[in-house]
Amino acid sequence: MNNLNVLILAAGKGTRLKSNLPKVLHALSGKPLIEYVLAAAQSLAPRKIGVVVGYEAERVKAQLAGHTLEFVVQDPQLGTGHAVQIARPFWEDEPGTLMLLSGDVPLIAASTLSALAMHHASSRYSCTMLSTLLPDPAGYGRVLRNPAGEVERIVEQRDASPQELKIQEVNTGIYCFETTALVQIIDELTCKNSQTEYYLTDCVELLKKKKLRVGVVICEDPREVSGINSRADLAQMEGLLRERKLQQLMADGVTILDPLSTYVDQDVVVGKDTILYPNVLLEKKTVIGSECVVYPNVRISASTLEDNVTVLDSCLISESRVRSGSQIGPFAHLKNHTDIGKQVRIGNFVEIKKSVVGDKSKAAHLSYLGDADIGRGVNIGAGTITCNYDGFQKHKTTIEDDVFIGSDSQLIAPVIVKKGAYVAAGSTVTRDVPEDALAIARSHQENKEGWAKMKRQSKLKE
Ligand code: UD1
Ligand code: CA
Repeated sequence: MNNLNVLILAAGKGTRLKSNLPKVLHALSGKPLIEYVLAAAQSLAPRKIGVVVGYEAERVKAQLAGHTLEFVVQDPQLGTGHAVQIARPFWEDEPGTLMLLSGDVPLIAASTLSALAMHHASSRYSCTMLSTLLPDPAGYGRVLRNPAGEVERIVEQRDASPQELKIQEVNTGIYCFETTALVQIIDELTCKNSQTEYYLTDCVELLKKKKLRVGVVICEDPREVSGINSRADLAQMEGLLRERKLQQLMADGVTILDPLSTYVDQDVVVGKDTILYPNVLLEKKTVIGSECVVYPNVRISASTLEDNVTVLDSCLISESRVRSGSQIGPFAHLKNHTDIGKQVRIGNFVEIKKSVVGDKSKAAHLSYLGDADIGRGVNIGAGTITCNYDGFQKHKTTIEDDVFIGSDSQLIAPVIVKKGAYVAAGSTVTRDVPEDALAIARSHQENKEGWAKMKRQSKLKE
């Protein structure tokens, strides 16, 4: 929409959350609240989007660094009306409509916003506000209408009379203003109210006094416009999103054995015929292919599993990729851009950090592989450790195709084990191993015949 600008109010601390983190950075289903609002704003394709920041402004800016935005800093934060006053340079010379959104109303649908903008434009109101009807309106500003049904003003919960508190139509904090109208009244806001704040909501009454027209669009689904003010609100909305997500996945062909103990973030994708066992958490932008099986007590965060991957019980996989046909776990830990090839087997108590493992390789038991580049068809014996850290720096281990590393070996990085080589069990490898060679780096075995029997006999005599 080319005569539309959007301003998101996100400067508040969120006192009721009792947090050091600014409210709009609290995560909902794996994503900060502000990201939801911003995505809704972007879907309208406005001329420009502004965000009013204040409390911990730098942190909020850093979170949004990847987007094309204008920031307005409001410090101190003297209320929603004050935020719009401070942001005046963003909107005052822009002809057309300014849409105002709250950074703490995350579920607002793009379709609702475009319907609001269309209604506002076609009705030629100076301001069109979005309201909703709530069985329990506690905490919200109430919409006061005159006998003709026209909106007269908005009264905040804390300033409302007992009679006004009974009104179930509430302000969602989302509005469209004509900038030419807003500029006439924005400086007339006062802070004569219970919170001594400049309320944006007072604009409605000020416009009416100037005989300017104010309209209301009622949002049918109140959940869409729920504000997050407390941790309880956050938990409630988390539950709502979780249920919706699981329903969607099941509708798309994913088997979820126990939806009550399965947690899947909004941005996660799961392919069909994948089975999720109880106590599975899939976080952030995780992608799971089809026909995968994820057994109990597994957390997968910001990772990709291709098709036909099995993750056995109690694994943690973060920021990593597992290619098709591989099996991970039980009790495995993959992290930090680890890339597991096709038909690989990673077994019990294996930790892999920032490493590539080629197709059909195996590390089945008790290993640490860090900063390693491992080829195809490699066998990593039980207890193998890449000693990648010298106390100052990390070093790389390269294990080429078809290498066999015997059990309980240490590979002191930097080191290369070339194609087809063997490392004998129990070796401490400090130098590169040539192609097809056998490296033995352990002391020779000596057998003392009859020693144990003699020892036992002498003990018996004592
Ligand atoms: C506000 C409305 C209320 C409405 C409710 C809907 C006012 C006075 N009240 O109340 O009528 O029912 O939203 O959710 O507007 N913010 C700033 N700068 C400030 C203060 C707030 O940017 O100085 C931002 C906050 O970060 C937040 C948004 O504005 O994203 C709303 O502020 P909040 O304090 O949550 O307002 P409510 O009390 O919920
Ligand atoms: Ca709020």
